[in-house]
Amino acid sequence: MGVVKRFRIKSFKEQNSIVKLEKISMVYNKRVILNDISLAINRHEVLGLLGPNGVGKSTIFQIINGLQDPTYGKVIINDTDCTNLPVYERATKFKLSMCPQYGGFFYELSVLENLQTVAEIHIKEKKDRQRKIDKIIAQFSLDSILNVKAKHISGGERRKLVIGMALVNDPNILLLDEPMAALDILSIQMIQEIIINLQAMEKITIVVCDHNAKSLLSCVDRAVVLSNGKIIVSGTPNEIIEDKNAKNAYFGDDFKIN
Ligand SMILES: Nc1ncnc2c1ncn2[C@@H]1O[C@H](COP(=O)(O)OP(=O)(O)O)[C@@H](O)[C@H]1O
Ligand SMILES: [Mg+2]
Repeated sequence: MGVVKRFRIKSFKEQNSIVKLEKISMVYNKRVILNDISLAINRHEVLGLLGPNGVGKSTIFQIINGLQDPTYGKVIINDTDCTNLPVYERATKFKLSMCPQYGGFFYELSVLENLQTVAEIHIKEKKDRQRKIDKIIAQFSLDSILNVKAKHISGGERRKLVIGMALVNDPNILLLDEPMAALDILSIQMIQEIIINLQAMEKITIVVCDHNAKSLLSCVDRAVVLSNGKIIVSGTPNEIIEDKNAKNAYFGDDFKIN
């Protein structure tokens, strides 16, 4: 599979952050999972979080969207301290959407019913609701599975559905927790293309994590590598794979993107 992201839309040299994590620590039952992490996410970038299973990637996402309160530190969105705001306020006021690592849809409802359910929560006018649903169906080619229960559709189709549901809210920020895990090669490529298109066409800031470096680095502008509760390196894909600390802690010596 070739590198999908052949061009970088922006180099993000000027600092224009939409989300900032300030000195975040997370302690579960006396276990320190995140240790004094600070991270700025630039507006309109695709940022990748890399790190082995259990390093704290999902925990970071949950802290950003409000499902978890950090033990210490602040979550700033659009220059506003959101650390104590509930999930729904971050979703509505700050247009933050998240596709969780597992689930994120109603198993017993059809694809169309799943989209309708989310749309009824977010969009008041029936016409606008229908317009939005039609757009998502076309955008992700969901026509042929509209009436199939979500529990019966394939892994790739589920990811498209969950991303589609997250877009109903017209998000400015989209958090994708392992959207490529357990997918075949073509489905991974499809998700990478979706990510790049969402950034390019809809100007959404995207944070995506994966434990598989190859899949992730093909579709991000910048990535950070997590190890032992810390961010050990941050940079473009080429910069981080050449980094000594990242090689020691995560990539090994023989890793290549292509
Ligand atoms: N609610 C929780 N209570 C206790 N420990 C948790 C909880 N959520 C996550 N953990 C632990 O925190 C660590 C990081 O988990 P997670 O963020 O899911 O990692 P990743 O997404 O990188 O695989 C793991 O060791 C996990 O067992
Ligand atoms: Mg996870």
